Amino acid sequence: MLAGKHILLIIGGGIAAYKSLELIRRLQDQGARVTPVLTKAGAEFVTPLSVSALAGTPVHQELFDLTSEAEMGHIQLSRSADLLVVAPATADLMAKMAQGLANDLASTLLLATDTPVLLAPAMNVRMWEHPATQRNIAQLKADGAGFVGPNDGSMACGEFGPGRMAEPDEIVAAITAKLSDGPLRGKRIVVTSGPTHEPIDPVRYIANRSSGAQGTALARALRDRGAEVVFITGPAEVPPPEGVQVVPVQSARDMAAAVEAALPADAGVFAAAVADWRVASASDRKLKKSKDGLPVLEFAENPDILKGVAQMTSGRPALVVGFAAETNDVVDNATAKRKRKGCDWIVANDVSPATGIMGGSENAVTLISEDGAESWPRIGKDEVAARLADRIAAALAG
Ligand code: CTP
Repeated sequence: MLAGKHILLIIGGGIAAYKSLELIRRLQDQGARVTPVLTKAGAEFVTPLSVSALAGTPVHQELFDLTSEAEMGHIQLSRSADLLVVAPATADLMAKMAQGLANDLASTLLLATDTPVLLAPAMNVRMWEHPATQRNIAQLKADGAGFVGPNDGSMACGEFGPGRMAEPDEIVAAITAKLSDGPLRGKRIVVTSGPTHEPIDPVRYIANRSSGAQGTALARALRDRGAEVVFITGPAEVPPPEGVQVVPVQSARDMAAAVEAALPADAGVFAAAVADWRVASASDRKLKKSKDGLPVLEFAENPDILKGVAQMTSGRPALVVGFAAETNDVVDNATAKRKRKGCDWIVANDVSPATGIMGGSENAVTLISEDGAESWPRIGKDEVAARLADRIAAALAG
């Protein structure tokens, strides 16, 4: 995905710096060349040796380094890259950037460049929430910097809240999106995919036959058009695409929580085959055969993720797309489903066993929108994904 791209990675001083080592790996796996820069504080958390060994190139640390001045200089260093990535972006580094300070190599590179910049902030929650940091972030956004994260979570300092650096694959997804020139560039799209597993006990679960193939193909097609994709997947048969943020989940309730955490987004595409019901009280021990008879499973209804997002009163994605797998009266059922759920489009298909669609490589879908039903011929799932991604791009552009 990133073949031929050159990333200048500035590693700031924070405990999250260790994740930047993994980030170097992931970027290289995608074909990118990484030139690392380590701040003085960053070098307190990761060693220059590990950074340069992973990057396969010397790490830049000093502003007035005679060799690099003679060879190329910091101005050229900052401009030769396709993208400058700061991970972790500390409160201090962002404050310097917002003020235009240039008193060390990292801040000088960031000031001397006309290359796009992506920041992955990481800091203590109080520092993140401080009005000074928020002011700096607003300024940096106004100056055109892109952001990925921070995420909520427990931190090394023992506190909980926003401030954790985004995970390496999230950063790779944001980089891929930023470097794309496709029609969905700058758009964030949440995709659910695959089946869900609803536990009965620690070893047994209820599932369905979804392979995750259509959702995966769609995430790939959206990524290829430049979207930043958050791919929330149940335990699927097919591997998730590269260059997207993958959030693996098991149950419908996990999926609902992951979707909530991934919003806001420009579009939500709900291709998962979510179980409608779960076992009301899954056992925390393996159920045993008993002479008292067969176990009786009681069911509870799962949250309807698509409906929840489609009917959000504030912060609803501009486009909400659902899928409807039907075995009969496909168009009528799916048209009613679109109304019931409140989504913009329904991608309906006939999954009766005779069609071989569930788990197969082809799909025959009908796209149902406010304007009516449009049936597409039976084509490969990749082709369905490509057509749908083009439609989504057109809708978000309009
Ligand atoms: N869906 C969801 N959450 C659920 C159930 C379904 O997000 N708990 C989404 C699916 O991802 C899909 C759409 O809703 O996009 C349609 O799913 P389907 O199971 O066909 O809809 P239901 O409302 O369950 O209708 P039915 O009565 O046909 O089962």
